[in-house]
Order: sequence, then structure tokens, then C-alpha cells
Amino acid sequence: MDKILVLDFGGQYDQLIARRIRAAHVYAEIKSYQAVSPAELRAAGYRGIVFTGGPHSVYAPEAPTCDAAILALGIPILGICYGHQLLAFLAGGKVAPSERGSEYGKTAVRADGHALFAEIPAESVCWMSHRDEVQALPAGFSVIARTEQCACAAFADDARKLYGVQFHPEVTHTEYGDRLLQNFLFRICGCAGDWRMADVAAAAVARCREALAGKRVLLALSGGVDSAVCTVLLQKAIGDRLTCVFVDHGLLRKGEGDLVERTFRGQFGIHLIRVNAQERFFAQLAGVTAPEQKRRIIGAEFIRVFEEEAKQLGRIDALAQGTIYPDVVESGKGDAAVIKSHHNVGGLPDAIVRRQPFPGPGLGVRIIGEVTAEKAAQLREADAIFREELDRLDPAQRPDQYFAVLTDTRSVGVMGDARTYGRTVALRAVTTDDFMTASWTRLPYEALERASSRITNEVPGVSRVVYDITSKPPATVEWE
Ligand code: XMP
Repeated sequence: MDKILVLDFGGQYDQLIARRIRAAHVYAEIKSYQAVSPAELRAAGYRGIVFTGGPHSVYAPEAPTCDAAILALGIPILGICYGHQLLAFLAGGKVAPSERGSEYGKTAVRADGHALFAEIPAESVCWMSHRDEVQALPAGFSVIARTEQCACAAFADDARKLYGVQFHPEVTHTEYGDRLLQNFLFRICGCAGDWRMADVAAAAVARCREALAGKRVLLALSGGVDSAVCTVLLQKAIGDRLTCVFVDHGLLRKGEGDLVERTFRGQFGIHLIRVNAQERFFAQLAGVTAPEQKRRIIGAEFIRVFEEEAKQLGRIDALAQGTIYPDVVESGKGDAAVIKSHHNVGGLPDAIVRRQPFPGPGLGVRIIGEVTAEKAAQLREADAIFREELDRLDPAQRPDQYFAVLTDTRSVGVMGDARTYGRTVALRAVTTDDFMTASWTRLPYEALERASSRITNEVPGVSRVVYDITSKPPATVEWE
């Protein structure tokens, strides 16, 4: 099996790089720059290495770096952004801040026909985000693309198979980013492109079965995609030696606790313990308004509840965790095929596998200000109505994520003959490929109208509904 190593120098898009490579049917794994030696790399048999971006300057004393001997292994390397600068720097080139300041955002790039740019128009749009640049190339390197500001937007050393791009081919803003990565994988590294996501599930089950022979395993099941997939794979591997604890912190969406119980206990016959800990969480959250403090309290209380349950279970040999690993399971459009294969492999229902991302602290970060049981109940209803209304849309019109937020603003309203002074619900809907950047969704007015009128009619205490028309950046998807 062809393997590509994504060597992480602290970039924010590392997962995205791995995901793009896997989407091209080549297996990719991510390792920290601190965790590899040239000898290990040679032994591991990588077909190619990608040096990721990162926030540092390659010439700074503490900058993340690697053994320059890696460049001489004969393994093709593609450097991206910081990785591009690092490659040039390690090979003896000069990197310095650009005299013209940062180059940021969508930028026209002109390429001169190198194989890395095969099937990419001579002029296309790339996504730039840098201040340093490669100012002098090492011997053997040549420039293969430029932008107006950046004289070395890409370089190549075909003899040593070292390549660099100053821009980010992994983000969707780079028009032909996928093409470029695929050119690296197939034209330069010679990968076959025969890897399939389903292989991962079968291999993971086999590995777990071996590693966990005779062992009892405990898993914190949230019902989100990550922990759900982990649960199903583990059940295939070790059957009833798996116990799942599901903590209901009172900040779940409407019907969520019952759905999780029905699916995992009912449909899969998994040994599931549901802990109804709502009151404990609300007690801890009383009077707290700072977003980060709310997140910390919910996280800490979750661990306390989980540990108390675990203690009562007797012997447990291992803890399992379905952690966030966006390139494997995040529910973005680009991953449809991947998600489908999990679905086919595990038999999980769409209601679980195709669910939207949902933060660990749940509705706690969608209630602005103090979190109370009463507000959570209000938001749960408003959110369910909004989601119900959008679920009626044609799937092509449906946003990638949509939910309601309970703001801490009250405003005057009128109902019948009486004045009201109720809460304001904000509706949020975004269209995105990867949740790193997102646009607010141009929803049909009719859908907004139905949601607004139903929320104000059906949720007592809510007298106003607004629609959030901010993209990310500058805003985040969530409000807190
Ligand atoms: P932001 O708000 O950072 O959100 O633009 C990006 C995506 O991540 C989700 N999100 C979380 N998911 N735990 C999670 O598992 C969290 O604490 C968390 N915070 C945000 C968010 O819903 C969006 O899809």
C-alpha cells in the first residue's frame, strides 16, 4: 500500500492535507516533525512526504525543523507554505520577510508548465497566507510559479524530487489545489491510488481484536459521529466486552438522548449506561457567563460523572475514545464517500452518521450568558423547529450546519393585545466544505418565515427571531 507522510510543523490545515490525499485514494498519515528520524522514514517506505505549513519563521532560533538528511533519502517531498520555506532553507536557500508585507487571500498565480502544475491553467487562483518568502534558491532548485508579489510561489528540484508551493493547495480557495496535490501523488511519487476508506475499518477492527483480546473496554459515547463509529467498530472487534457510558448533561438537542439509546442499545444491542446528570451540570453552571469558563465546567463535570460511573463497573482494562479527527469522519460534503463507507461497513443509521457537527459542551455554548434548565428547554424547542423546517428543503439547498442560538437580548414584542418582553433567538446556517471557512447560507425567505413564525408561536418566552448573516471568517460558526 502506498503511504504518504504529512509531516506536521504546526500548521492549521494538516488534517485537511491528509484528507485531500485520502480523498485521492492514497493513504496518508500525520506525524509531528519531532517524531521522525531519517532512518525511520526510510524504513517506513513512504512514497512521498508533505511538509505542512506552520506559524513560525524558519530562521527563528526555536523554529520547528527536521534533519536535513531527510532531503537526501530520495523520497519526493512537497513543502507547503512554511514547509516550502523550510525545504529551501534546509537546502541552503534564503528565507526572509517579504519587503512588500504579507500576501493574504485569493491571489493569481502564473505557472510555467512543470509537471506539478500539469492540467492546471497557466494562470489560476491560489490561496496565500504568508509574510516570509524564499528570496534565494539553493543550487538545483528552479522557480516554477510566481504571483505578482511573490517571485517564488513554487519551486522544483527534479533531480532530488524536492518541491515547494508558497500557497495552500489543500484549501478549497485554491482553484486547482486538488489537481496539484494529485500531480504530486501520481506524477511525482508514482502512487497507484488504489487505497479505499473501507480498508481502514476492516484493519481497525482486526487490530483492536488482537490488541484487546480478553480485555474489557469502556467508552464515553456522545452519540456524535466520532464516538458512534468507534463504538460500532469496537463492538465488531470485542462484542459484549465493550461498555458504553452516555452522559446526558441536559444540553443535548431535542430527542437526542433517546435516539442514542434507541440506536445503540436497541439496534446494536450494546451495553449502554445512560447517566441522567442534568441537575449536576446546571448546578455547576449557575451564575457563570464567561464562554471559556462554561466550556471548562462542562468538560470537567463530564469527566467527574464518567469516572464515577467507571468506578462502579469493576474491572476495566482499557478506555476507548472516538475523538475528533476531521479527515476521517467529519460530516463535510467533500467526505460524502468516506461517510458512506463507514455507514456501509458499520450499519449505522443516517440519523447518526449524517448528523451535523455538535460541540462537546452542547447547547451550553449556544446559550449566551448564564445557562439554565429553563433556557436550555427554550433553545431545544426553537432549535428543533428550525432544523425541522430546514429538513423540508431540497437536500441541495440544505446548509451544511444549521442551528438556533439563544441570545441574552430581550426585546419588546406584542402578542394579542398585550406587550411582551421576551428573548431573542438567532438562527445560524452555514455552507462549507470543511468548517474552517464558511459562508452564511442564502436560505429561502419562505423557510426563514416559517421558522420565525413557528418559533415565536410555539416557544413561550421568545418574542423575536433574527438571522445571522456573518461568514467565517470573521465570525466563527458557533457564537461562543
Ligand atoms: P467554530 O465555531 O470554531 O466551529 O467556527 C467550527 C465547527 O466545529 C464545531 N465545534 C465544536 N465541535 N467540540 C466539538 O466537537 C467543540 O467544542 C466545538 N466547538 C465548535 C462547530 O459546531 C462547527 O461545526
